[in-house]
Amino acid sequence: MASSSRAQFSSRIGFILAAAGSAVGLGNIWGFPTQAASNGGAVFLFVYLLMVFALAYPLLVAELTIGRYGNANPIKSLRSIWPQQRGIAALLGIAGMIAVSMILSFYAIVAGWLFGFLVGPILEAIGFTTAANWLESFSTSRNLILMIVFMIMTIMVVRNGVANGIERWSTRLMPVLLVLFVVMVGYILTQEGAMEGLKMFLVPDFSHFSSGLVVSAMGQAFFSLSLGVCSMMVYGSYLRKDTNIPKTAAQVALLDTSVAFIAGLLILPAMFVAQHNGVEIYNDAGALLDSDTLVFSVLPAMFETMGTGGVFIGILFFVLMVIAALTSSISMLEVPVACATEELQQDRKVAVWWIGGLITIFSSIIVYNFGDMFGLVISLTTEYAQPILGMCFALLVGWIWKRDQVLQEIKEGYPELEQSLFWKIWPWYVRVVCPVMMLMVFFA
Ligand code: PFF
Repeated sequence: MASSSRAQFSSRIGFILAAAGSAVGLGNIWGFPTQAASNGGAVFLFVYLLMVFALAYPLLVAELTIGRYGNANPIKSLRSIWPQQRGIAALLGIAGMIAVSMILSFYAIVAGWLFGFLVGPILEAIGFTTAANWLESFSTSRNLILMIVFMIMTIMVVRNGVANGIERWSTRLMPVLLVLFVVMVGYILTQEGAMEGLKMFLVPDFSHFSSGLVVSAMGQAFFSLSLGVCSMMVYGSYLRKDTNIPKTAAQVALLDTSVAFIAGLLILPAMFVAQHNGVEIYNDAGALLDSDTLVFSVLPAMFETMGTGGVFIGILFFVLMVIAALTSSISMLEVPVACATEELQQDRKVAVWWIGGLITIFSSIIVYNFGDMFGLVISLTTEYAQPILGMCFALLVGWIWKRDQVLQEIKEGYPELEQSLFWKIWPWYVRVVCPVMMLMVFFA
């Protein structure tokens, strides 16, 4: 099915960094640590690891394989594996495209806030206190303007295409992110109070174990690996035929999980350092503050109590968050853009603007109806759309796509795979175990 003119990632490492860039995002740095904090620390970590490797990883392989086989946008790729029901297959692709656009519409709002917390302290340092305060406090105008700024950044990267936009920026930004992370963890762990946070993260508290925890861990794993909404499928479609998909997917999952783990080593200790410095981290009922308050009030307050060095560390922290958000948001925008350029034969430079524009308009509607819509859109996409579509993709690969075609695609350029354990287990696993596991979690 190869068409030589279609874009590709130029190297394997470029692909890994781009896919890991998609996976590593606010879900890792903000979502995972705060979920772990309120769900018994290491208990959540353990269930999460189980979900990533027993459920999300096989599905990541499935999505990448569909994409690479189709060598096209998700709508066309899904049609090519289910030619008997092209209509339904296309609808699944369209559903993924809509879901990922909705994810981008709330993601851009949060990323905008982070951008505000990055620029705010810089403006403050050079004397623009009013502007800095505006950037750092909740208002419709701030939410709107920063969201638009972030959407424009996303559009500018995707506009340049796969190798020159997505891959180039991911390979530049991901190493910066990793280095910044390690520096910050090293710093935080030397601060007074940090060990208490570390204990909370690493010592299991089994009283927190519940079916709700398992559902949260599954949702977190799906969100973190960007599953169920065609992002990984579209990245898979730019993957070269000589790439070993199971191995590459394992590296992406491992990188993503490591960053989530390291983020836990950063955020939870940081909370307790903040507490040590007099910042309140529990509410009146004795529960930990919710995650927005933690990231947007507790952490900035902590950075402030640390003096000039703290301001600098604070800026670094938000730079890190914005980079992580950007390498994820580009993988979201790429889904509808790839569909428009191929299905509607549009020029990429045109498609990014009108699609990015539509998503920005939807995001503005959320900004203006924040109280009613923000939580709703998050819950619709991450609690429903991602797991349900993910399950549909598993069923497609397991039951509908011709077995020999699936296996042929996976071992393409890598015939030794036939001797591996993966080869024996994976097809059955995706066919039976993944859907059953997901159903069980749903009913829980
Ligand atoms: N994986 C990203 C994160 O953890 O923040 C979020 C994400 C990216 C979700 C791409 C869905 C997606 F298609």
